[in-house]
Amino acid sequence: MSRLENRIALVTGAAQGIGYAIAEKLGREGAVVYGADVNLAGMEKSAEELRQKGLKANAVELNVSDRSSCEKAVAAIIAKEGRVELLVNNAGITRDGLLMRMKPEEWDAVIAVNLTGAFTLTQIATKAMISQRFGRIVNVASVVGLMGNPGQANYVASKAGLIGFTKVVARELAGRNITCNAVAPGFIATAMTEKLDDRQKEAMLSVVPMKRPGTPEDVAKAVCFLLSEEASYITGQTISVNGGMYM
Ligand code: NAI
Repeated sequence: MSRLENRIALVTGAAQGIGYAIAEKLGREGAVVYGADVNLAGMEKSAEELRQKGLKANAVELNVSDRSSCEKAVAAIIAKEGRVELLVNNAGITRDGLLMRMKPEEWDAVIAVNLTGAFTLTQIATKAMISQRFGRIVNVASVVGLMGNPGQANYVASKAGLIGFTKVVARELAGRNITCNAVAPGFIATAMTEKLDDRQKEAMLSVVPMKRPGTPEDVAKAVCFLLSEEASYITGQTISVNGGMYM
C-alpha cells in the first residue's frame, strides 16, 4: 500500500512551485489531493495536469488571508469527502525591502498570507481533525526564519512566527493524535527565487555546501515523510531542507 493511501489532503499555494511538487508527491503516495490557490485558473490547470499523470487531484479557490475563503474551502472538502486529514500550509509571498524603506502595507501583506493564513486554516481544519481523532499538519517555513536575512523583515518574521506557531499546535493537539511540523527550505529553484538577480543567486549558492539550489521535489519528499505513518512520533519539529546552508 502507498504511504498516504486515500488520505484527504489540502495543500495551499499548489498552483506552482513547491506547492505543486508537494501536491504531486502526495498524489503519488495515494492521497486525494485538494490543491488550493488564490490563482484559480493556474490551480485548475495544475490539477488537470496532475490528473493526466493519473493522480487524484482537485482544484479549490482559496485566499488564505481571507477567513471566509478558508472556511468555504475546508467546508467544500468535508462536504465531498467527509474529512480532511493532511494540511500543508505552503502558500507564501515576499515583499522584500530594507527595514528603513519597508512600507507598513508590505509588512502587513506578508504577515497576512504567510502567518495569519496558516493560523486561520489550521484553526478551521483542526476542528475536523479533532473530531476525526487524526490529523497531520506541515507548515512550510524557510531557512531565513532560522537565520534572518537583510531585506526581509516581514518575511523572516512570518517564517520565524510559523516555526513558533508549529510548536504550539504540536503541544496543544498531540493528545488528539494530531501532529504539526515545519519544513525550512533553503534556496529552492522556483518562481519566487527566479526574481533574484544573478548577484543575489550567486551569493546564496556560495553559502550552500552542496553547491546547488534545491528542487521543489527535495522539499516535497520531506513534507511527505512528515505526513506519513513513518513520522507518527515526530511533532513540533522543523526539518531543514537546505543543502547544508544552515546547521
Ligand atoms: P511561488 O511564488 O512559486 O508559489 C506560491 C503559490 O502560493 C502561488 O501559486 C501563489 O498563487 C500562491 N499564493 C500566494 N498568495 C496566496 C494566498 N493569499 N492564498 C492562496 N494561495 C496563495 O513560491 P514557492 O517558491 O513555491 O514557495 C512556496 C512556499 O515555500 C512559500 O511559503 C515560500 O515562502 C516557501 N519557501 C520558498 C523558498 C524558495 O527558495 N523558493 C525557500 C524557503 C521557503
